[in-house]
Formats: sequence, C-alpha cells, structure tokens
Amino acid sequence: MQPKPPHFIAIYPGSFDPITNGHLDLVERGSRMFDKLIVSVLRNDSKKPLFSVEERTEMLREVLHVYPNVEVSSFEGLLVDHATAYTATVLLRGIRAISDYEYELQMALMNRRLSPEIETVFMMAHETYSFISSRLVKEVFSLGGNITGLVPPSVELRLHARLAKTKTMKGQS
Ligand code: PNS
Repeated sequence: MQPKPPHFIAIYPGSFDPITNGHLDLVERGSRMFDKLIVSVLRNDSKKPLFSVEERTEMLREVLHVYPNVEVSSFEGLLVDHATAYTATVLLRGIRAISDYEYELQMALMNRRLSPEIETVFMMAHETYSFISSRLVKEVFSLGGNITGLVPPSVELRLHARLAKTKTMKGQS
C-alpha cells in the first residue's frame, strides 16, 4: 500500500479585533501552504475587545468564505489543546517587525514545551501591511482618520456601524 501523503492542518490564532488586511494577506498565503487553515479567535474578555467573539468570527467568515480550505473557529484555554482537537500540527503566526519577535519567540517556545509535536511557522508580513495592527486601526478610526485599504471593506462598514451606535448611546445617556 502506498503511504498516505502528509496532510498539513494549520491553526492561525489571534484576537482579530478586527481582522486587518495584514491578517488577510497571511491567510491568503497560508491557505496556499497548508491543506487546511483554521483561523481561530481567542475568547478572552480581559483584553476588553471592541467586537465580541461572535462578531469577530462573523466578520472573518464574511471575508474568508472565498478560500475553500479556510475555516473560522474560536477557542479558550490553551492554544495547543485547541490545535490538538483539530489534529493540527502547525501554528501559523505573522511577524511584522523586530518588535514582534520577542513576544512571538516566547509564545512559540512555550507552545513547543507544552506540545513538542506542534511546530510554529512564522511568515513575514507583506511590506505593504507591516505597519498595520488592529489596535492602530481602531485608534485611527476612533480619532476620525481614514482607514480605507487597511481593513476589508465589510470590516470598515462594521466599524462605522459601531461608531454610530456608540454615538447614539452616548446621546441617550
Ligand atoms: O492576536 P494576538 O492577540 O497577538 O494573539 C495572541 C494569541 C491568541 C495567539 C495568544 O494569546 C494565545 O495563544 N493565547 C492562548 C493561551 C495560551 O495557549 N497560552 C500559552 C502559550 S503562549
């Protein structure tokens, strides 16, 4: 019997509050590298996210449904346990600048200690997007700056809707 070809399932974890074009670029490239890519949102309210996990997974699905081998999921607890549940052997992370490296290295080494059979794979962010972060997008947007081209159009619409809702609520209080 012929040996089965390797089947690589990768998890791309993150907060995705919200997804940016930098994340999207990584998903697109990751989807070409792995047989299956699971984009997983961490459930962690202590980070005081702008969007709920449900909203974030919905936004991810809206944008990522065009990739047939990409799935959207969420998790709480240890990332390696989540990866094991999906029989994933790869954790995918993006690196934008040297400043990302220390944090990413710590996480990768901790995850390797917890689960040596799961490998972290880093991809360099595309230079067009290497300055984008969800945090900066939210800051610029909340201060009235233009974020077109930094996030997918559907996410920009969500941000406008969220801002309008916040203004209405403030007006009522
Ligand atoms: O987009 P982020 O906020 O940089 O993503 C961070 C994330 C979700 C990858 C990280 O916080 C995580 O994996 N949390 C799960 C908890 C865990 O497994 N901790 C131990 C290994 S570092």
